[in-house]
Amino acid sequence: NHTGPFDFVIFGATGDLSRRKLLPAFLRRFHAQEFSDDAQIICVARTELNTEQFREQIEAALREFAPETAQDEQTLHHFLGLLTYITLDALKPGGDWQILRTLLAANDRPRVFYLATAPALYSPLCEALAHHDLINQHSRVVLEKPIGINLETARAINHGVGKFFPEESIYRIDHYLGKEGVQNILALRFANPALEKLWSSEAIAHVQITAAETVGVGSRGSYYDESGALRDMVQNHLLQVLCMVAMDAPASLGSDDLRNEKLKVLNALRPMTPDMVRRNVIRGQYVAGEMKRKDVPGYNEDLGTGRASNTETFVAIRTKIRTARWGHTPFYLRTGKRLATKTTEIVIQFRPQVWPIFTNMPSPGRLVIRIAPHEELSFVMAVRDPGAGGFRVRNATLGMSYENAFSVTYQDSYERLLLDAVRGDPALFIRRDEVEASWQWIEPILNSWRHAMTPLEPYPAGSWGPASTRSLLARDGALWHEDM
Ligand code: BG6
Repeated sequence: NHTGPFDFVIFGATGDLSRRKLLPAFLRRFHAQEFSDDAQIICVARTELNTEQFREQIEAALREFAPETAQDEQTLHHFLGLLTYITLDALKPGGDWQILRTLLAANDRPRVFYLATAPALYSPLCEALAHHDLINQHSRVVLEKPIGINLETARAINHGVGKFFPEESIYRIDHYLGKEGVQNILALRFANPALEKLWSSEAIAHVQITAAETVGVGSRGSYYDESGALRDMVQNHLLQVLCMVAMDAPASLGSDDLRNEKLKVLNALRPMTPDMVRRNVIRGQYVAGEMKRKDVPGYNEDLGTGRASNTETFVAIRTKIRTARWGHTPFYLRTGKRLATKTTEIVIQFRPQVWPIFTNMPSPGRLVIRIAPHEELSFVMAVRDPGAGGFRVRNATLGMSYENAFSVTYQDSYERLLLDAVRGDPALFIRRDEVEASWQWIEPILNSWRHAMTPLEPYPAGSWGPASTRSLLARDGALWHEDM
């Protein structure tokens, strides 16, 4: 499983992502001996620092964000020794490109450029890499989300980066695909033929995909307020999860087979017309409320700009997939900040008995695939109630928790994805046509919101979103998981 030597260059290395996610993920994989000290991690940012100062800053970040691993002082210091810092401003002429060239002298090792910068810099940075002759046949570029803010800007980024890197060397990251629970959807479906037999409108009444967070907008207000929940979570993470749930079996787990099948799902999503948006999309924003018996402020207070923002912090969508497999199954997506609990889960709700012979019928059964806060599978079934006289049926749950079943070694999805990029395996990264197809589906919602001035429905922090979210399902006679 060892990667062998590699060069990894992080642009935007002083940023939040790099301190909280990327470098802690590398430290954990280094500790697990997945790579050794013949690898180098070159950290690039605009801030004037020398390598010593940078290592000091990162040491503090590693102690904070990977505390268990950072306790091993020897590994920690060994790892810090792999980091070099270079001050560079991609948009300004001059700078230390020459140093970067010298560090990247070895031409035969995987060379990954990770762009953890504002997306506006992706194309200029790639151009600069080409200009300084740093791209060779072993080079890959990793792009963080967001890839654009709509279809046009996504295409522009893809086009700009595509001038310097071939598509197979462009790795668009979606950290949800690195989550164990998301990848397990493939195993669950395609290694359990019995389950896959049920996997269609015939047996499945509806599917719910929820990514609920308790956190508010935190210190990311300036990014988030421009983005909103639809762009921040639905366009990428939720649609990717939906693809994993809905796709047909790929011919193999090879990256193109997998991505071709996901693309078919995106293309089969029922297009949103303005009228459909009005009836099938809920848009909310949190206002002050109570969480864990503490008063928490609303979104506008969190932003602190002194004006009322029109950005959504909650979205719920009802959609359908126009295929023979799924035509009669609504898919419900929802995500939001400051909701009642932190949970990421998929609920597969099975259809009821067509001819019930029992006098009481509990819920017709469902499979819950929980991804966060813990990876768990539970299958709610009907069983005879042994305590009751006569013949009563009730629900009981078959459960499996990853934590109990396995000693899970990946703590964060970035760990797997970073090393996949080093190894040159793009299967869990998003292809150009997938990004563009998902924007194509999202864009009418954005447009319709803008033109119709769809009102933002307030919801108190600590709730499950605007009250109308329930009606969205009630139309189909369905309930959200927490109401079941
Ligand atoms: C990020 C979003 O992509 O995903 C954040 O920008 C969000 O707003 C985060 O909080 C959620 O990720 P996770 O892994 O905690 O579900």
